[in-house]
Amino acid sequence: MSEIQGKNIVLAITGGIAAYKTPELVRRLKDQGANIRVVMTEGAKAFITPLTLQAVSANPVSDSLLDPAAELAMGHIELAKWADMILVAPASADAIARISNGLANDLLTTICLASEAPLVLAPAMNQQMWRALATQENIERLQKRGVTIWGPGAGEQACGDVGPGRMLEVVELVELSVGFFQQSGIRALAGQKWVITAGPTREAIDPVRYISNHSSGKMGYAIAQAAARAGADVTIISGPVNLTTPTNCERIDVSSARDMHKHALSLASQADIFIACAAVADYRVAEVAEHKIKKTDDNDEMRIELVKNPDIVADVSKLNDKPFTVGFAAETQDVEKYALGKLTRKNLDLIAANNVATEGQGFNSDNNALTVYSKDDKYPLPLTSKSELASQLVNIIGQQFTKRQ
Ligand code: PMT
Repeated sequence: MSEIQGKNIVLAITGGIAAYKTPELVRRLKDQGANIRVVMTEGAKAFITPLTLQAVSANPVSDSLLDPAAELAMGHIELAKWADMILVAPASADAIARISNGLANDLLTTICLASEAPLVLAPAMNQQMWRALATQENIERLQKRGVTIWGPGAGEQACGDVGPGRMLEVVELVELSVGFFQQSGIRALAGQKWVITAGPTREAIDPVRYISNHSSGKMGYAIAQAAARAGADVTIISGPVNLTTPTNCERIDVSSARDMHKHALSLASQADIFIACAAVADYRVAEVAEHKIKKTDDNDEMRIELVKNPDIVADVSKLNDKPFTVGFAAETQDVEKYALGKLTRKNLDLIAANNVATEGQGFNSDNNALTVYSKDDKYPLPLTSKSELASQLVNIIGQQFTKRQ
């Protein structure tokens, strides 16, 4: 169970175009099990309505310090005490300046002053406003007081400028919030270095074609995310995928199996734990054509000669200073038999087997089911989201690794 489950978050929305993202932020935080109460400034209401936020949070929205009805329901001091975290998102330059100066001239600033809960700001403003000395001094002052600042991101802005000042994406804010509560809970893997391969490899045929598979990288990235949340120092060696790098993870992008092999072998000997979740091509094209292979009228067949790729996880487990090594087995039949064969043949500490022929799990799905085998034990992990499954798997790996120490 994630540490954010059951936590009370006051989401304070201030006036900025990024306010339009906050209903989604509320929904995603609620998906993680958090309770959300929304506070809005007058400026925020110019961008998004209280009714929308009330509907998605399933709680009344507070927008005034001096509203007798609201004070009767949950007064501002009660709200300040209720919070396990106050997240100001988007945090405008004006809100940052007022909080940094300790003002208490509206509901937002009063709650910030009246609460002992950790305060987190997700700034969003024009890039020049963000760079302005006044804003930077306010941020520095807040950080010295222990206020956490998430972002801002950089890129194209609503006003047409390009630069720093974009509110972090909803998925990043949710990830940071989950990690925030995790940090205040158990950081079971702190100090451990985890290296995880994820996604497919691509084996070139010619400059425009390649051999690959259906791996999306979701399983490997979910494991990386769960390990990083639990405090591990995580590096993902990633084949070509369409995913955002999980918060606090390093990522090395590779394409072919040999490319992945090179990086894995160079990182594995400094790692505590190595997890091979990538769907690596067992074979590559013997001779990659220098130019695009042309179709000819006189030939209805074409043969491509393949040669074996190095086995990454097997080579990692041959290292003198071998990390705790976990493989995967993607099978379509006789899952247990083949998985146990790979466990022994590749000299693995654990293997996580999945049946990739079953609909609704495995390759490119959001869900999966695994059975984890060690030499002596078996742990069935039934069908669930890859994110939940990854947390369960990371727990098992963490416990088995500690047992071996
Ligand atoms: O990426 P997703 O869409 O989320 O899908 C997840 C997944 C199905 C890809 C994942 O759960 C999974 O099963 N990954 C392993 C895929 C695979 O290649 O399995 P395998 O049984 O062919 O290989 C056995 C093990 O050897 C694996 O750990 C594999 O990473 C490793 N291997 C294989 C070949 C090779 N040349 N080098 C390797 O390291």
